[in-house]
Amino acid sequence: MSVLVTGGAGYIGAHVVRLLVERGTPVVVVDDLSTGARDRVSGAPLEALDLTDARAADRLADIARAHDVDAIIHLAAKKQVGESVMRPSWYYRQNVGGLVNVLDAVDRAGIERFVFSSSAAVYGAPDRAIVDETVDPRPINPYGETKLVGEWMLRDVTRVGDLRAASLRYFNVAGAGWPELGDPQALNLVTIVLDRMERGERPVVFGRDFDTPDGTGIRDYVHVLDLAEAHLAALDHLRHDRAGYAVFNVGTGTSASVLEVIREIERVSGRRLEAEFVERREGDPASLIADPTRIRTELDWHGRRSLREIVASAWEAHRHRVGRA
Ligand SMILES: NC(=O)c1ccc[n+]([C@@H]2O[C@H](COP(=O)([O-])OP(=O)(O)OC[C@H]3O[C@@H](n4cnc5c(N)ncnc54)[C@H](O)[C@@H]3O)[C@@H](O)[C@H]2O)c1
Repeated sequence: MSVLVTGGAGYIGAHVVRLLVERGTPVVVVDDLSTGARDRVSGAPLEALDLTDARAADRLADIARAHDVDAIIHLAAKKQVGESVMRPSWYYRQNVGGLVNVLDAVDRAGIERFVFSSSAAVYGAPDRAIVDETVDPRPINPYGETKLVGEWMLRDVTRVGDLRAASLRYFNVAGAGWPELGDPQALNLVTIVLDRMERGERPVVFGRDFDTPDGTGIRDYVHVLDLAEAHLAALDHLRHDRAGYAVFNVGTGTSASVLEVIREIERVSGRRLEAEFVERREGDPASLIADPTRIRTELDWHGRRSLREIVASAWEAHRHRVGRA
């Protein structure tokens, strides 16, 4: 039996694949390499396939049968909020259309367990800082909407048939488990600040008048290796779980402000950073922090690595990448 990982050549997927390979689990990766890279995957075969392709479900079912797959971890998606606002139908095609094809293949190949990459973006801008999974999801952009539709599809599919599934709502993912697996895209606070630093530019902070202790936005940062471990915990849980479908926050329950993260980057890099403050972005909540009780209780998972370890590992990965460039 093996695990099929879609998007396994991406930032998070490559960590999941490496942990599975280290654990001795046979893995097959499916990725169109649109944002991923072949050299992020070792120890597992990689099948190049665009999941939105008209024949993707057939191809995927063939791959699943050929590799005796009984579980899928589905990470492949597009994840840029701004891009999703500009190209909503393309985002639906990528994230929802891709998942439809994967679920068709699940049906044809008789796959039993499924772990889905969802996002805290499904919560939108809730009226409370700390959210558990019972908070009504109200995404505020097409990216978050595609993730919520994905959750609904899984909920509905697991109501009939034998599939058992878990949606993992990731909070703010950063860091690197290995220097060569750092996040190659500057889309989260840590990588954006490092990227700007490299170009001699100041970090830009959106809003300094939030109702938070230092006035900047507060988020829940989770180390990518802790997050990858959560996928393995979910897979193991689904082996025995009879519930069919569940949603889990993947966050630490702790939080840091934008300025605290920047200070941590200054500390690990030894460089002085002077933030430039600009207007808030529309829709940005002051604080968004996970209540991780459910995943701790049901999957026995908790984020073990600190903000300091997250930033230090991201810095190491950044130097690795810049050194290679
Ligand atoms: N990084 C984060 O902070 C974060 C937060 C919440 C949720 N997520 C979700 O986690 C998942 C992985 O994110 P990531 O940060 O590793 O992004 P990433 O862009 O590094 O990885 C996505 C991978 O999927 C592949 N892919 C994309 N579209 C595809 C398609 N149509 N067919 C086949 N492969 C395709 C890409 O080539 C890439 O390897 C995504 O579903 C994303 O929405 C990420």
